[in-house]
Amino acid sequence: MSAVEHSAPTPDIARRVFGDHVDRAEKFADFLIEHGVVRGVIGPREVDRLWDRHLLNSAVLAERVADGARVIDVGSGGGFPGMPLAIARPDVDVVLLEPMARRIGWLYDVVERLDLPNVTVVRGRAEEKPTRKAIGTADVVTARAVAPLGKLARWCLPLVRRDGELLALKGDSAAAEIERDGQQIRSANGFDPVVLRCGEGVLERPTTVVRIRKGA
Ligand SMILES: C[S@@+](CC[C@H](N)C(=O)[O-])C[C@H]1O[C@@H](n2cnc3c(N)ncnc32)[C@H](O)[C@@H]1O
Repeated sequence: MSAVEHSAPTPDIARRVFGDHVDRAEKFADFLIEHGVVRGVIGPREVDRLWDRHLLNSAVLAERVADGARVIDVGSGGGFPGMPLAIARPDVDVVLLEPMARRIGWLYDVVERLDLPNVTVVRGRAEEKPTRKAIGTADVVTARAVAPLGKLARWCLPLVRRDGELLALKGDSAAAEIERDGQQIRSANGFDPVVLRCGEGVLERPTTVVRIRKGA
């Protein structure tokens, strides 16, 4: 059997995070490197840190998602964090919501290339009524690098079912954003915002997430 050569070497930890689905994750990494850069989905400087900053950083969210859950990834862009999450967890249904036509085309191509039956791609903005009506609600809504926390709460909490949660991937600003945007979070029917780390004991740099629960 000949070894498959990948555009970016697969780190050992990827096998732990993606388990039996690491081949699909490798396919996604190859596709991103071969086509994502020219199609403007990722910057050329991201290639060297593709696994660390993007694929693994996204997939560790799986530890916060229940079996068979429905997830909406708002502002998915090139597919983060929704696509790695869907690869790691075939039992989870993932809707990738994105307004930009070029990125929608990319997301469709990835779904086809990787053959991901648990992913649905939807074009639209989280705050638009027709979009909300079309996609309904989810147990978990995710978002990375889309908007400040208060705005994100306003856009995303209506998409979270009662007792579900918003998981906003944030960097060092996480605690300060909770403090600054507390009022907006409460008026959007969000409560108990906390900073969590995903991938602790697994990743060198765990993913920082703000979790906001949806009120009744
Ligand atoms: C900086 S990119 C981040 C993409 C991806 N989440 C990531 O981390 O690589 C922000 C994305 O949010 C999308 N976006 C902006 N406003 C949005 C809205 N109101 N609803 C849904 N998506 C939105 C943009 O089109 C863009 O693809």
